[in-house]
Amino acid sequence: MGRQSDDAEKSGGLDITYTMRLQRYLARAGVASRRGSEALMTAGRVRVNGQVVTELGSKVTPGVDVVTVDGRAYTLADDSAYVMLYKPSGYVTTMSDPQGRPCVASLVPTKRYPGLFPVGRLDADTTGLLLFTTNGDVANQMLHPSHHVWKHYVALVRGVPTRHQLQMLRDGVKMPDGVASPAKARLLSADDPAALPVLGEGLPYNHAVVSLSIHEGRKHQVKKMLRSIGHEVLRLHRDEFGPLALSGLMPGQWRPLTDAERAMIEGLASQGEAAPAPREASAARRGHGARAPREGRETHRG
Ligand code: URA
Repeated sequence: MGRQSDDAEKSGGLDITYTMRLQRYLARAGVASRRGSEALMTAGRVRVNGQVVTELGSKVTPGVDVVTVDGRAYTLADDSAYVMLYKPSGYVTTMSDPQGRPCVASLVPTKRYPGLFPVGRLDADTTGLLLFTTNGDVANQMLHPSHHVWKHYVALVRGVPTRHQLQMLRDGVKMPDGVASPAKARLLSADDPAALPVLGEGLPYNHAVVSLSIHEGRKHQVKKMLRSIGHEVLRLHRDEFGPLALSGLMPGQWRPLTDAERAMIEGLASQGEAAPAPREASAARRGHGARAPREGRETHRG
């Protein structure tokens, strides 16, 4: 409540929280007006996680803190749906394809969540984290270039980039359609779990795995960046999108976002800013993408 630690812990060390004043939460939950909610608080009738809260400046994290009034729990009504898909290779990012190619729509629960659409796109041959939602505001905020939502990719490339070439990516590499923003770039060793999704049979001779964090989303951005330093991308995988990390899914499976994940991306959108730590600050979460679904968690094959 009003602290960053709980959410940060749940988000694998990311310091992102979505908090709001308790009286605003109560008003939005339909308990009473803002003033009426303040009166309920000062009367000692409001509890957060079981503790009476009378201080008017107190904050809560929607979707994480349990707020009760006279013993009854109140949540914020929001019927937006959020689904994480582990996109397999060979599917185009569209909800219908006139040419009849396999498309991601067939992998996600569009009947259960009418209006679901993908937030951004991955190329047909790219694998990994693709977010779907019914909430246009959140999608716009996550995609808006000014919000600098970081995305993490792992690429198998032909040849081994030199230190100088990696530095070019960090400085902002010149591409055919303009200069890319500075990226976080480094090589991954073949036994790094994060490299697994692009390795298959192992690392072929004279190839390398590049870890790349970017916050731009131009078409074929990663392929163009790596091409510009002289290396062709043979396989590409995304394992992070803003505060979300691909976890608990096998290729072709989807799951709803957890409450904490949902609160993080809604928080990102409501703050109108995005400051998820780039890859280096979240090393602890590496390699989760290929993990088998955890027992008891709802996962689905599309
Ligand atoms: N950059 C690419 O080149 N392709 C993708 O699918 C995503 C980012």
